Amino acid sequence: MSPRKILVTSALPYANGAIHLGHLVEYIQTDIWTRFQKMRGHECWYVCADDTHGTPIMLRAEKEGITPEQLIARVHGEHSRDFSGFYVQFDNYHSTHSDETRFYAEDIYSKLKAAGLIEVRSIEQFYDPVKQMFLPDRFIKGECPKCGAKDQYGDSCEACGAAYAPTDLKDPVSAISGAKPELKSSDHYFFKLSDPRCQTFLREWTRQGSLQTEAANKLHEWLGDEGENKLTDWDISRDAPYFGFEIPGAPGKYFYVWLDAPIGYMGSFKNFCAKKGLNFDDYWKPDSKAELYHFIGKDILYFHALFWPAELKHAGYRTPTNVFAHGFLTVDGAKMSKSRGTFITAESYLTQGLNPEWLRYYFAAKLNGTMEDLDLNLDDFVSRVNSDLVGKYINIASRAAGFIAKRFDGKLVTEHLTEKFDAALPDLREVASEIAEYYEQRDFARAMRRVMALADQINQYVDQNKPWELAKQAGQDAKLHDVCSILINAFRILTVCLKPVLPKLAQRAEEFLNVAPLHWADAAHLLPPAHAINAYEHLMTRIEGKQIEALLAANRESLAAVPPAPTSDPQSPQRHAQHQQNAEDKMQSTNPISIDDFMKVDLRIARIANAEHVEGAEKLLKLTLDLGPLGTRQVFAGIKSAYDPATLVGRFTVMVANLAPRKMKFGMSEGMVLAASDPEGKTGGLYILSPDAGATPGMQVK
Ligand code: MSP
Ligand code: ZN
Repeated sequence: MSPRKILVTSALPYANGAIHLGHLVEYIQTDIWTRFQKMRGHECWYVCADDTHGTPIMLRAEKEGITPEQLIARVHGEHSRDFSGFYVQFDNYHSTHSDETRFYAEDIYSKLKAAGLIEVRSIEQFYDPVKQMFLPDRFIKGECPKCGAKDQYGDSCEACGAAYAPTDLKDPVSAISGAKPELKSSDHYFFKLSDPRCQTFLREWTRQGSLQTEAANKLHEWLGDEGENKLTDWDISRDAPYFGFEIPGAPGKYFYVWLDAPIGYMGSFKNFCAKKGLNFDDYWKPDSKAELYHFIGKDILYFHALFWPAELKHAGYRTPTNVFAHGFLTVDGAKMSKSRGTFITAESYLTQGLNPEWLRYYFAAKLNGTMEDLDLNLDDFVSRVNSDLVGKYINIASRAAGFIAKRFDGKLVTEHLTEKFDAALPDLREVASEIAEYYEQRDFARAMRRVMALADQINQYVDQNKPWELAKQAGQDAKLHDVCSILINAFRILTVCLKPVLPKLAQRAEEFLNVAPLHWADAAHLLPPAHAINAYEHLMTRIEGKQIEALLAANRESLAAVPPAPTSDPQSPQRHAQHQQNAEDKMQSTNPISIDDFMKVDLRIARIANAEHVEGAEKLLKLTLDLGPLGTRQVFAGIKSAYDPATLVGRFTVMVANLAPRKMKFGMSEGMVLAASDPEGKTGGLYILSPDAGATPGMQVK
């Protein structure tokens, strides 16, 4: 088998937000695949970068009172720290704000222009007269033209789902300054995707056959049937002020962030080639024999499967071999949510002391190479990691290591081990080639299932041979030595198969086994006769349920009754997740429940005995609630934006009294006060309830 040349990328994360567990689905998936390819002996490179340009990053820096360059430098440090904390091992982690990316952006643009695929057209757009800038759709708000819902974004309505142009909104306002936007025209540069050359090429590219089924279906939907021309030209320029690259020969015009973002893959690789002495053209010329794969989320398929290949093709570069799209992460079956504490940042996971390889394993056990969404079920997470990794895999080594050390001077048997091994565990030395196929297809779930089935088989072998009994019987030393030597070798083969997923654990296992870094081919043979192993130290601890609770508490910002504060950053994934959360909440309000369900909620009249600010909490007030005969409760309520604590003391309100207590960052919360909410309304849009006069603390509400 001659080594393949493979260049792999993950999508470039925006340089204005923290890495969270949703992102990690992608980076861990890509990392597993590239580690696997490297273990197979291929020349495989994994490059990535921060996606640094665009309006949100410019505005975020402005808000923080720093330059965009300072912001992206800081975030680069944070992202690199988070990725290495999860053992995501890029060969190069660069930035789109780089000379290399600028070079290829200008190069591709000028080649597309020379090919007649760039067109300048004047378009009318909303302009903020106060901020003096054109407004991206997401920075315009107004009333939905279809259903009349207020405070909708310029591109789509969250209430009714309608999509429209910002100019269709009623009473539009700028989300930046609050000013009424004006229509103003300006020249924009377009990539002519509607050109027959692009359509013909994209149809051909789509037909290559190896696309994921769901991706191929999407592309077919976008391209339409043969003869149809559904693609429209793509606006690739933005007017100053903008943080990005100025378009050559067009003063005051900048490349739109999505033009230079994928070009950042080339920029990062070019930067890497210079450091490594590699030849860039070997990977990017049209006749390149190298493979090029982009791992992405399903939300950015359009950019990667239409714009990007069309740009590359017509600028004289090779096109991607394939694009691997994955679904979105949910936690306990719902979108990640800040109020539930399931919007978990990479940083908080690590600082809470959770083992990154637990998550790598869990994701691997769920990733199957399709675009389906993937759920992090927290109970399942705990039980699966504990039972598979600790209970099945690690257990094999720990059951054998002590006897080898104590009884056999740390050495494995000298004779006929391969025959004995093959008789005890037939096929185990061949299984890695089957598992390799699953890795290659990115069906890591299947690979993990196969490995765990083997671990079960090996543990059965232990139970049948009972080394602990052999150790007590006279004359059974040779048998004991054989059994334990077989187990150590079996453990080593499983380690090879799990190494792409668990690189750190594998490294510690290699130290224990006293072997050089394992490659895939090592799974086909056994350790040499009389091989000496090192003392066994426990390789992985179990997850405790309370660690998960602490993780949620650390990420929980406020109680569920509190509406999310709108962030000023529509591009951020948080914002995105929050939108989906809101939509989901709307859906739920139409689900009927029975009276019995309702009666499960113990609502009580409470007197607010005390209310105070909580140091370090952005949204919370700490309330002491008097429930009369039921005693007092401490509750953290996310109502700080709407109420001065002094005005609350003595008031009567309604609380949920039988909510399971929750540990929050600032202490225990023993219930929830009810409030009506309208995120954008006056007083922060929050209105706590009051009973009519006469109600007393502790009374039941039904
Ligand atoms: N900057 C663009 C990508 C440019 S690529 C040339 C971007 N950045 S992002 O930070 O929003 O997302 C980075 C990657 O993480 C994307 O592939 C996105 O799909 C993925 N994910 C972000 N949130 C996710 C989940 N909740 N679940 C799974 N993947 C998610 O898009
Ligand atoms: Zn609407």
